[in-house]
Amino acid sequence: MARCEPFAAHGFVLADFKRICFVLHAGMEISTFTVLGIETSCDETAAAVVRGAPPGPGEILSNIVFSQIEDHRPYGGVVPEIAARAHVEILDGVIEEALSGADVALGDVDAVAATAGPGLIGGVMVGLVTAKALALASGKPLIGINHLEAHALTARLTHGTDVPYLLLLASGGHCQLLAVRGAGAFRLYGTTIDDAAGEAFDKTAKLLGLPYPGGPAVEELAKRGDPKSLALPRPMLGRENCDFSFAGLKTAVRHAVKSGAAHRAEDVAASFQQAVIEVVCDRARNGMRRFVSEFAADGRRLVVAGGVAANTALRSALSTLAAEEGFTVTIPPPRLCTDNAAMIAWAGIERCAARNFDSLALEARARWPLAAAQR
Ligand code: KG4
Ligand code: ZN
Repeated sequence: MARCEPFAAHGFVLADFKRICFVLHAGMEISTFTVLGIETSCDETAAAVVRGAPPGPGEILSNIVFSQIEDHRPYGGVVPEIAARAHVEILDGVIEEALSGADVALGDVDAVAATAGPGLIGGVMVGLVTAKALALASGKPLIGINHLEAHALTARLTHGTDVPYLLLLASGGHCQLLAVRGAGAFRLYGTTIDDAAGEAFDKTAKLLGLPYPGGPAVEELAKRGDPKSLALPRPMLGRENCDFSFAGLKTAVRHAVKSGAAHRAEDVAASFQQAVIEVVCDRARNGMRRFVSEFAADGRRLVVAGGVAANTALRSALSTLAAEEGFTVTIPPPRLCTDNAAMIAWAGIERCAARNFDSLALEARARWPLAAAQR
């Protein structure tokens, strides 16, 4: 029997390919989908295989994340050129590992999903073009995933959370509150007018001489500091809308650090983190109230996603707030809050269920907002 050469290693046989494509494209009932996910939008090279169906939860068969942190650490941040080159070097091996770890052959997956944006364009192109090659050679459908949507839907992968829910998405590049009504259906409540929350953590870390990435390092240091020791601003606190701002806070931290006053780094970290928590909770409270006015009959659910959701102090403050407002709160485990490919595979499963595939002409996008502003 003819074998599709590049994937012979996965036991892929042409007859299988024809049968699976027929099943999928003929629209026959497939209750559960198995999707290969690929993530390369920043400094993590990741591949995963996930099985399931909406609303979840899904089964993570493998989840390989190769962090390039050591490559970027000397520069104090991600260098796009270095990131793209590193993705080229290791992505094929990471995909092999994800497939073999899941004990799944490429011929057994229902689709190949990859981040198509937003992100560092060189890296996004590496992942997307790899997914196109795999899809083309195997005859599997290609699905280009919005990275933010993948973060947004992770709670369905981990907890099977029903829609609608209020989403706080706080990562290195974004800080937003949105109502999620389903895959591809978002209503933006508010966003940052300057820096993202994770960016503020990263910049504060740099000012304190902490290693990249800053979030975990600041959180660790803050545990030994006094959050009341520095009087830092709370940008946007008390405003009626759901927008965020962190630039002023970062500037205040810089002044405090450079002022010559003998502040302990622990105290700066703790005071900064406390300011972020208070602002985020204040904004989230407004979001919850708006959500109740729009979706009250459908339940009160808060989901927190993105790398900053890995912060334990923030997780606990948001849980307290949610209880006060009568919301349940779902926060995926830290390793699924930061960048990973399991969330990309899951978003692919949601798209499989909707039979919403992409053509091989799909373009990589550096910018790709989740929802147009609907204020
Ligand atoms: O979602 P993510 O992994 O990548 C982006 O899509 O941006 O988020 C990375 C961001 C970084 O800014 C990092 O410093 C922050 O999440 N982060 C944290 C923590 N862990 C990661 N921020 C605060 N506390 C943490 N424990
Ligand atoms: Zn991310």
